[in-house]
Amino acid sequence: MLEVKDLHAKIGDKEILRGISLTINDGETHAIMGPNGSGKSTLSAVLVGNPLYEVTGGTVTFNGKNLLDMKPEDRAHEGLFLSFQYPVEIPGVSMTNFMRAAINEKRAYEGLEPLNAADFLKLMREKRKIVELDTKLTNRSVNEGFSGGEKKRNEIFQMAMLEPKLAILDETDSGLDVDAMRIVAEGVNKLRTPQSSCIVITHYDRLLDMIRPDVVHVLYKGRIVKTAGPELAKEIQQRGFDWIKAESES
Ligand SMILES: Nc1ncnc2c1ncn2[C@@H]1O[C@H](COP(=O)(O)OP(=O)(O)O)[C@@H](O)[C@H]1O
Ligand SMILES: [Mg+2]
Repeated sequence: MLEVKDLHAKIGDKEILRGISLTINDGETHAIMGPNGSGKSTLSAVLVGNPLYEVTGGTVTFNGKNLLDMKPEDRAHEGLFLSFQYPVEIPGVSMTNFMRAAINEKRAYEGLEPLNAADFLKLMREKRKIVELDTKLTNRSVNEGFSGGEKKRNEIFQMAMLEPKLAILDETDSGLDVDAMRIVAEGVNKLRTPQSSCIVITHYDRLLDMIRPDVVHVLYKGRIVKTAGPELAKEIQQRGFDWIKAESES
């Protein structure tokens, strides 16, 4: 699915990613943890092609293709999804119209005809049910006046609609409450398939209790300094990151 090799990236003169290597197989869920400022959000931004960051070395292969050569929108069309991709409120554009545009753009990229209204509404209904999203939300403007939990549910709904091959959920928001965490975890668990993969970036071990990732990585100072199974999240919950920092610097 995804193979990252010795990835380096900087912003301005500051090197932030200093040699990341990571392999994610089809169907796997990986968690990325790490202290604030270690480069977790930078990694997700670089993967989706945020132009703020300059890649200075390394390679990224996504389903056999060179990801770093692709425009951000093509990365999305190829099946890469980043939560918080549309965190902005879009007044005057209903969720329904927004999703219709997104789906049809993706279909055009795949050489398919736009979905007709009936099929589109059927798809909306089906996916809304999976993520328990109220029709009141889909009729409102995108994210306008949504609560934190509603934004989360909306995000998971977008993910359900677009059926990404690889979803990256960057839970930077320190305001994630228990309900929002449950929405994210249930969404991720329900949408799991043997063909799709997920990267969950979080410092909430409770979220990882609910998601049970296959692999947990710790990112520190722009490098992956530890990789293990889900038990690593528990250990971090009990011991914090200091022992890993010490290990990586000794
Ligand atoms: N737009 C930016 N301008 C300058 N520095 C940035 C920018 N974005 C991130 N950084 C710096 O890069 C480092 C990694 O940040 P980030 O990827 O957000 O870490 P994390 O998500 O792990 O908390 C931090 O030192 C941060 O200050
Ligand atoms: Mg972050």
